[in-house]
Amino acid sequence: MSDPLTTRKPEPFVMVVFGASGDLTRRKLIPAIFQLWCQNHLPESAAIIGYSRSEKTDESFRAELCDSIRDSLKCQQHIIDDAAWETFASRIFYQRGAYDSPEDFAALGQRIKTLNVERNVPGNCMHYLATPPTAFADIITNLNSAGLARKGQSDPWSRIVIEKPFGTDLQSALELNRIAREAFDEEQIFRIDHYLGKETVQNIMVLRLANSIFEHLWCHDYIDHIQITAAESLGVGSRGGYYDKSGALRDMVQNHLMHLLCLVAMEPPVTLTADAIRDEKVKVLRSLRPISQQCAANGVVRAQYTLGEIDGQETPGYLQADNVPEDSNTETFVAFKAHVDNWRWSGVPFYLRTGKALPRRCTEISIHFEPIPQILFNRPPAGPLRPNVLTIRVQPDEGIALEFQAKAPGPAMNIKPLEMDFGYRESFGQAPPEAYQRLLLDAAVGDATLFTRSDEVQAAWEFVTPVIEGCACEANNVLQYPAGSWGPKEADELIEADGKQWRLK
Ligand SMILES: NC(=O)c1ccc[n+]([C@@H]2O[C@H](COP(=O)([O-])OP(=O)(O)OC[C@H]3O[C@@H](n4cnc5c(N)ncnc54)[C@H](OP(=O)(O)O)[C@@H]3O)[C@@H](O)[C@H]2O)c1
Repeated sequence: MSDPLTTRKPEPFVMVVFGASGDLTRRKLIPAIFQLWCQNHLPESAAIIGYSRSEKTDESFRAELCDSIRDSLKCQQHIIDDAAWETFASRIFYQRGAYDSPEDFAALGQRIKTLNVERNVPGNCMHYLATPPTAFADIITNLNSAGLARKGQSDPWSRIVIEKPFGTDLQSALELNRIAREAFDEEQIFRIDHYLGKETVQNIMVLRLANSIFEHLWCHDYIDHIQITAAESLGVGSRGGYYDKSGALRDMVQNHLMHLLCLVAMEPPVTLTADAIRDEKVKVLRSLRPISQQCAANGVVRAQYTLGEIDGQETPGYLQADNVPEDSNTETFVAFKAHVDNWRWSGVPFYLRTGKALPRRCTEISIHFEPIPQILFNRPPAGPLRPNVLTIRVQPDEGIALEFQAKAPGPAMNIKPLEMDFGYRESFGQAPPEAYQRLLLDAAVGDATLFTRSDEVQAAWEFVTPVIEGCACEANNVLQYPAGSWGPKEADELIEADGKQWRLK
């Protein structure tokens, strides 16, 4: 994996953020870039141009960002350094323009040129697509026509960072790949999924491959099954209109869950280069046993939350959210069983689930080891004992825990399950950095390790698309669960049918 944050500094560059008036820019991107600036990871001459259709001036844009940065840093328990902000803000500019207007892109090109000269930037440019995906194709096409894509050129470099979701199914992803590849070489394209920038996600490889005790056990001989849960405690809030066109399968499974599955299941890469790691991830995706449309209709649990309570607060159901059609069939929860049909994972089920309006926000992977033989301590009445479980907490409270058995003090042979727990904050004395900080710096130095390659996106969609289509055939198969519960009872039955239970319940 690439060097840690501290050792890298990109060459001077201009970053253009499309969708500059939006939520992602305000809440995540600019705060992350500002943090990088404060930590001295950015070159002195770096400049940022916000581009969107809204009417703003450089000054009004800076003032808006200052307010949201204060909020965002406060949430992370940081205080804004006013002097640092003033210096940083003088490097932020705003360019109004439409996403489908060649003239506006020509004007953008001119603005970049002027800044390059004024700030002594050698022409390096990073384009960041932070708009809804409907605008991606127009932006890429216009960047190309305006000569801002510079396919194949590496000095000065031009790169594009494309936000998720990358397509809505296999066809649309292939089409977006085609458009992107017409304008840029694969090496210039950085498909982002911020989950991959999380420290604990990167730690999966370190845990497995930098510790001799785990990798030898990492196979069907010792592992009974693996669970991956990505739970959100919030409902769709005001984003019902957007979410209803997406649903949990497109919004979470195709990207976040597939990445986690790949990192847990992949073979050790030959080297730590971006392509060697991504080669192994693609192999996992290609080894996934296809779920046919018919199996999806019967075997994938899809559900919507209804009126319930989360943290003592009444939460209205999904169908009551703004801009959600009252007959919507979109799932806010999904659970299913997957199989990686290769030598290492033969016979090991992977249970995946994700949902909104669940009891708490948490993403974790749990590796459930084989039970020990039913002899000695594992015999009744002491046993059966709980098998060892290794849990990787991706968020929040990032860390790793190993559950094992120990004798409780006293004359009797009482055996109790205990946990060895590594917490990121306690061990390293600080919260892990925001994923966007890491990913923006990686893109600026040209390290694509934590970004998704085109064949990876394609393989993930090849697996997920028949599932989506199968579920769509069964128009009425969306179940219900009260907000604040762990999903419908069918999700429990899915795993209990194999004699297992969800770890989080
Ligand atoms: N927000 C997050 O936390 C988050 C997290 C992960 C990924 N993402 C991804 O990042 C991208 C941007 O997300 P966002 O939440 O920032 O989106 P947003 O606030 O809805 O939109 C960003 C900006 O894009 C422009 N825009 C262009 N076409 C638009 C359209 N058809 N409808 C609405 N706005 C349009 C708007 O600016 P103008 O009208 O001024 O041009 C808007 O302010 C999306 O692809 C999203 O999936 C977001």
